[in-house]
Amino acid sequence: MAHESQTDPAKLAAARAAVALVQNGMKLGLGTGSTASIMVRELAARVRAEGLSLRCAATSRATCELAESLGLSVESLDEIGWLDMTIDGADEVDPDLHLIKGGGGAHLREKIVAAASRRMVVIADPGKVVEQLGAFPLPVEVVRFGFEITRALIRRALQDLDLGDCDVLHRLRGSDPWVTDEGNWIVDLHLGCIPDPVALARSLAVIPGVVEHGLFLGMCHLAIIGKPDGTVVRL
Ligand code: 5RP
Repeated sequence: MAHESQTDPAKLAAARAAVALVQNGMKLGLGTGSTASIMVRELAARVRAEGLSLRCAATSRATCELAESLGLSVESLDEIGWLDMTIDGADEVDPDLHLIKGGGGAHLREKIVAAASRRMVVIADPGKVVEQLGAFPLPVEVVRFGFEITRALIRRALQDLDLGDCDVLHRLRGSDPWVTDEGNWIVDLHLGCIPDPVALARSLAVIPGVVEHGLFLGMCHLAIIGKPDGTVVRL
């Protein structure tokens, strides 16, 4: 368990500012990743200190285990239903608050939870803020059945959008390979830049073996960017 003294001060600042938005009685989505984990710890500390009553849904098994170990009440999304707010991290945030997520491989559940939320608040350090998405490899969750066909269809879609055609740039995550919470695999698309995220999202979404991609477009309502000096910027 990371102690505060070991915690990235920028991530901690963002997490604290987001936790300050939480109100008693809220139904909350809990994100995944290192920044979201800091947020979960801060949230649990506030719940203990103030006796808040919250209902939480987690975006991954890892977050569920962490939250429960800290005494937060975690239920399934279907038990809770619509959420007031989700607080989650991101791999990239652009000026339109479009995101790349899924560096931790949880973007499928993260997107479902975000879609169930009235507000999605992203917390991040300054390194996540970009002018254009795509330097971070875009995660795409795919079913195992017919994997090579799905990969070929992804490659064709990228060629159609002039986004590179080299298989080596579209890597299956992990050598084993790595398996998501839903039992699928992840292909990371090393695109460099994504000039038209909407077109790419649309093309990936219609490929049968693609379960979900890591482009979160128009889903984030507020991004809180923490700085190493402990202050935050709201986008
Ligand atoms: C997990 C995610 C994470 O939110 C994203 O990878 C950011 O993680 P971190 O806060 O560790 O940088 O999308 O699927």
